[in-house]
Amino acid sequence: MAGAALALPTFIPASALGLNGKTAPSNRIVMGMIGCGNMGTSNLRAFLTKADCQVVATCDVDKNHLKKATQLVNERYQDQGCKTYHDFRELLARADIDAVMMATPDHWHGLVGVAAAKSKKDIYGEKPLARTILEQQMIVKAVEENGRIYQMGSWQRSVANFHKAAEIVRNGLIGTVKRVEVGLPKDYNDAETRRKDEMHVTTVPPELDYDMWSGPSKLLPYIPARLHRDWRWNYNTGGGQLMDWIGHHCDIAHWGCDFDNSGPSEIEGHGEFPAARRVGRPDSRALLYVHVRRHPGAAPQEIGGRAGIHSAGWMDDPGAGVVRLPLVADRELAAAGAHYWSSHAGGHRSLRDFRAYA
Ligand SMILES: NC(=O)c1ccc[n+]([C@@H]2O[C@H](COP(=O)([O-])OP(=O)(O)OC[C@H]3O[C@@H](n4cnc5c(N)ncnc54)[C@H](O)[C@@H]3O)[C@@H](O)[C@H]2O)c1
Repeated sequence: MAGAALALPTFIPASALGLNGKTAPSNRIVMGMIGCGNMGTSNLRAFLTKADCQVVATCDVDKNHLKKATQLVNERYQDQGCKTYHDFRELLARADIDAVMMATPDHWHGLVGVAAAKSKKDIYGEKPLARTILEQQMIVKAVEENGRIYQMGSWQRSVANFHKAAEIVRNGLIGTVKRVEVGLPKDYNDAETRRKDEMHVTTVPPELDYDMWSGPSKLLPYIPARLHRDWRWNYNTGGGQLMDWIGHHCDIAHWGCDFDNSGPSEIEGHGEFPAARRVGRPDSRALLYVHVRRHPGAAPQEIGGRAGIHSAGWMDDPGAGVVRLPLVADRELAAAGAHYWSSHAGGHRSLRDFRAYA
């Protein structure tokens, strides 16, 4: 039997063959979902609405999250074709998967992002790109070396009001920008109150692989309030409010100032740590103030850890996701000339569009 291929019967769901009224396989992006918690599930729901995407795999280290996400896929396609994975490397090893959605906590982005690019997958990756600048550079290098497409989940760039705000500023309709102020939420999104009974060391629940969840971060005693969703308030796994929001409001300020192709030349900041740094409590800065200047002479950005900033500046955002600017009529905007590309159909649509034009 040496050299002979062993043919095993394989169950292929009807939906994967382009039957049942589905888009033909050659016109679909075959996708795997890595990290199926809060944002991962939201992304999954969005991809499931796209006829030209086929989700074939889910991966999570929490069996409960994995089960819920997989049920969503199978209910959507009316079959049992979605395969589940505990280890993202096994999902990435599948040659039939074109692209992955990555919504693990920030401390995993670097390793998963690099491994995905090296496995020749395109990536819809959640913001921030990664937790450290070095990890971010490693992702960029792997994506470039492997000729991949990386779509960042900075969805505010796909929302019409943010796009319009950036257009207004970039077309000079509010004059020369002298300063940008960005308001971020302060404190820890009420995590300490919401989870006050979960701030102590306890045993790991059977559904969770805590070692794998911790991955490249320091393996600390298991405290539930440090995990799902609230990992962002501890520097071991997240980066506090600044890291959480830099891919949103700070990014929109960046967009409006046309800074996409330039890095900062000066950064200066200070923050206030929580008064009591007790076991289980968040340890990222409760308040922070950062000044960023992109290049000598450019408008400085002030990024503040307050509920909202209500002073002069092109952006005045109380944290409710609303950009308030002087009212500019659409015809004035049109008369000003340039419009900038934005996919108002949503960032999930963009991954498909980029693949089509790449
Ligand atoms: N674009 C946005 O508006 C937005 C909003 C919220 C979160 N996010 C980003 O999405 C990411 C996830 O945040 P969240 O709030 O959904 O967190 P979450 O804790 O709710 O979900 C993370 C999931 O990843 C799983 N996970 C952890 N390690 C894993 C591994 N090695 N392999 C597979 N799965 C693993 C966890 O078990 C969990 O189910 C973060 O990077 C966050 O910054 C973006």
